[in-house]
Amino acid sequence: MPRRFYIRTYGCQMNVHDSDKLANLLLHAGWAQAESDGPCELLIINTCSIREKAENKLYSDLGALREWKDEVPGRALGVGGCVAQQEGDAILRRFGHLDFVFGTHNLRWVPEMAEAAFDGMREARTGTTASLERFDLPERHPEFRASTPGRAFLTVMEGCDMFCSFCIVPTTRGREISRPAQGILDEAAALAKTGVRQLTLLGQTVNAYGRHDQRRAQTAETGTMGFAALVRRLAEIPGIERIRYTSPHPLFFDEALVRAHAEVPELCPHVHLPLQSGSNRILEAMRRRYTAEEYSRWAEALKAARPGLVLTTDVIVGFPGETEADFEATLALVEALAFVDAYTFKYSPRPGTPAAQLTEGSVPADVAQDRLERLQDLLRRLTLAAHRARVGETTEILVEGPSRRARERPDQPAQIRGRDPQHRVVNAEHSAPGGSLVQVEIVEATPHSLIGRPVPEEGATLTRGKRTADEEGRLSAPS
Ligand code: SAH
Ligand code: SF4
Ligand code: F3S
Repeated sequence: MPRRFYIRTYGCQMNVHDSDKLANLLLHAGWAQAESDGPCELLIINTCSIREKAENKLYSDLGALREWKDEVPGRALGVGGCVAQQEGDAILRRFGHLDFVFGTHNLRWVPEMAEAAFDGMREARTGTTASLERFDLPERHPEFRASTPGRAFLTVMEGCDMFCSFCIVPTTRGREISRPAQGILDEAAALAKTGVRQLTLLGQTVNAYGRHDQRRAQTAETGTMGFAALVRRLAEIPGIERIRYTSPHPLFFDEALVRAHAEVPELCPHVHLPLQSGSNRILEAMRRRYTAEEYSRWAEALKAARPGLVLTTDVIVGFPGETEADFEATLALVEALAFVDAYTFKYSPRPGTPAAQLTEGSVPADVAQDRLERLQDLLRRLTLAAHRARVGETTEILVEGPSRRARERPDQPAQIRGRDPQHRVVNAEHSAPGGSLVQVEIVEATPHSLIGRPVPEEGATLTRGKRTADEEGRLSAPS
């Protein structure tokens, strides 16, 4: 029987996708994927260090895993991701039961390192590289199980050269690098053939795709193109019905991308555009390189380009020097731009970042907590208002699987959970499988989600079968 692995993942979509890549590499190397960390021989923790809390989670996890390691002889434990990149072999020295550590540029070595671990080798590989080789990964293994049917992440660029003053990512992910367009298009076409209908394009500043590229004049194999042009090419691939991207940076928006939102139906009417603060003083101290006014112009342009477009964002409260007036400017902008949702964070100093050196103006913990709660109250109000405005609308959901109610209460009628093009969660009484598209009418709004009632599509059945590419590349709906 092949040995089994399990990967625990923390952090952003980039990390989730890295875990997918790791799983795929291990499957190609002959491993089998376990359902949990109980019955497995190899456990990998893919870590995040964006805030102190995220980093501490690794240390508590590792402490608890001493027992897991001792329980069954011949088990191996590896740590990867952003904490691994940052701490390297310091983690290996601190935790004697840890077998290997790999950095964010070293995924491809994991099968080899795992093998070596079973021969008693302990090592850390955290070297960085500017080579495009890291994008040359094998196609999805037949046994690869997507955690989200019908959807896939697709890396278009990696790394970050922005160096926002609070952020550890430029250290943990290294320099910005864009993947050649042909590789992206080929991977997208291969994914579409396996039934993927929604692509989420990934990059730390995804819409900066190609900006540092010196290879534009070279061959199709090595060249990039503008981000909007890439989106248009991806939208032409038969079977690809939805395209999302995360996270764009306001500095890299351009007219071409706004136009794509108006003209490319596959490009979803949802943009997650991190704001961080509504105060220009704080934005400058954060080194975000835009003003609240510039941000607002892009936000409004996007909404004008595509009616119904939903904006979500990230906000940090309690950045050093943030006054009540600065915070109120954030509240005012969040309200004015009517974000439908947001990830909200209390500022957390990260070692080695310029903001961590700021000794003046640090915001007391209780003040930061109070600001966080006030911001979250506002967002709850905005989310509910946006949801209520959708009642009566007909939309299409991409089914993720059974809803929580369906999983907890099998006695009730079947219910599915899916996402509409705006990325809102919609629950509906239906039994369509994960990965299918279902037409629904929104009948109720709740603070966290929408409730839909399935409606028949004009001249069609309730559920659209998978649209797949036939041999001539036309679209056909299998029965
Ligand atoms: N590249 C994206 C953000 C990636 S990190 C962008 O620039 O837009 C995701 C979010 O984590 C950030 O948008 C920010 O809101 C939050 N974050 C990053 N560093 C943080 C820190 N030191 N303290 C609190 N929140 C932080
Ligand atoms: Fe961090 Fe700024 Fe880069 Fe985003 S753009 S990853 S916040 S440094
Ligand atoms: Fe965390 Fe690294 Fe992503 S720090 S948020 S996993 S890039």
